[in-house]
Amino acid sequence: MKDYILAIDQGTTSSRAIVFDHSGAIVSSGQKEHEQIFPQAGWVEHDPHEIWTNVREVVGLALTKADLTHEDIAAVGITNQRETAVVWDKNTGKAVYNAIVWQDTRTQKIIDKLGGDDGADKYKDRVGLPLATYFAGPKVMWILENVEGAREQAEAGDLLMGTIDSWVLWNMTGGKNGGVHVTDVTNASRTMLMDLTTLSWDESIAADMGIPMSMLPEIRSSAEVYGQGRRGGMLPEVPIAGILGDQQAATFGQACFEVGMAKNTYGTGNFMLMNTGEELVPSKNGLLTTVCYKIGDKPAIYALEGSIAVTGSLVQWLRDNVGLIKTAPEIEDLAASVDDNGGAYFVPAFSGLFAPYWRSDARGALVGLTRYVKAGHIARAALEATAYQTAEVLDAMRADSGVDLTELKVDGGMVVNDVLMQFQADILDVEVVRPKVAETTALGAAYAAGIAVGYWDGEQDVIDNWAEDKRWRPDLDEDERARMMRNWKKAVTKTMDWVD
Ligand code: G3P
Repeated sequence: MKDYILAIDQGTTSSRAIVFDHSGAIVSSGQKEHEQIFPQAGWVEHDPHEIWTNVREVVGLALTKADLTHEDIAAVGITNQRETAVVWDKNTGKAVYNAIVWQDTRTQKIIDKLGGDDGADKYKDRVGLPLATYFAGPKVMWILENVEGAREQAEAGDLLMGTIDSWVLWNMTGGKNGGVHVTDVTNASRTMLMDLTTLSWDESIAADMGIPMSMLPEIRSSAEVYGQGRRGGMLPEVPIAGILGDQQAATFGQACFEVGMAKNTYGTGNFMLMNTGEELVPSKNGLLTTVCYKIGDKPAIYALEGSIAVTGSLVQWLRDNVGLIKTAPEIEDLAASVDDNGGAYFVPAFSGLFAPYWRSDARGALVGLTRYVKAGHIARAALEATAYQTAEVLDAMRADSGVDLTELKVDGGMVVNDVLMQFQADILDVEVVRPKVAETTALGAAYAAGIAVGYWDGEQDVIDNWAEDKRWRPDLDEDERARMMRNWKKAVTKTMDWVD
């Protein structure tokens, strides 16, 4: 038996490749950031060709560091930033436009028009999502309407569309020379084009968006062999056998297999997912209904999701756009230099507000300022913003699911920040638990691929390998907690109605 599984994690800010062993431990990894392109206010793009180049580079790095070749790899799993849409020419392999990123708000007018008199919930019964700029389908519609010649090419059957998983898989399996055009149920559930019950494309929604069916990838499960690495590539003949959107992958890697189990990932944004089993739970409180995972022929497992657009990317913004800190980890020391937020509240509605508000017209606000406020307070307010947003999502999760969460499993880049994690436990009034392997996103994709090829037997291996690293217990007076949440909610009201 080959010894390792390779996971490719193509995220919003960087691409990573991680090699895992049978115990779920990291053997080696490679990582590379890609350019964030901001052509105008509210627009966010990536160059899909840069992403593909970086994916190849990080795979090479991860293999070389551990002195491995493709012959040591039993299978590859792909996990990815979700909703980001690419449209490319299947004959040339060239993208017709940059990838439009999930954070991009340019489709505001398109979604207003699609909703018409029915409003934002027009397709919600079928796809589990409200009409919002976040999702992939309307981004493809924008490309077809705005890139010269794209509509004609699409109608002639020359163009393909996909979320990043499909783009990476198609290229890995040969690209214009026979690349496999497939997506998995979790990524498909973020397009607004997939019927959640039948797990197939909804032709009438595709027609509303003017997207020819010939552009759409085939929808498959999250764990099965989709194809093999192309000959002449770095992973020739290696089965590519797992695909999960990154948040679903983290839920899988955190072993949230029972109904009511939830995880929260602290990345560019924050995403809390709760397993609802085979049952589709519609949300009345601003959450999304989404596919959690589907292992081969087994039934699909669904989740409720609270998506927050801006958490970690606020720290990056303070570093790159404002210069408040030089490196992201400095935020913790700066925040710890003061005792509290000094009255400042920072609502980072840079991509509008996602869950539970879904207000694309919102924009960021820093409120409660006095001459007393200094850099430390702003750093503190920025970190607290992550925790308040999570608290609002958790409230919605409790209301929709009827499950009273007593602890929250966390992962992602920001969970190394003690100040934040303690404040998170305080403001939620629940225990916050971090696993030993915090790279649960890549790990989840590795498990899906490994299960598909028999490297692991099934979910029990994931449960057995999961281990707790650290736990934060709430320690905040109830009145103080309520006061801070009240102020936060007041601050949120100041962000609405900024875009006509
Ligand atoms: O829905 C967007 C999400 O998948 C992005 O995750 O980790 O790339 O910020 P991340």
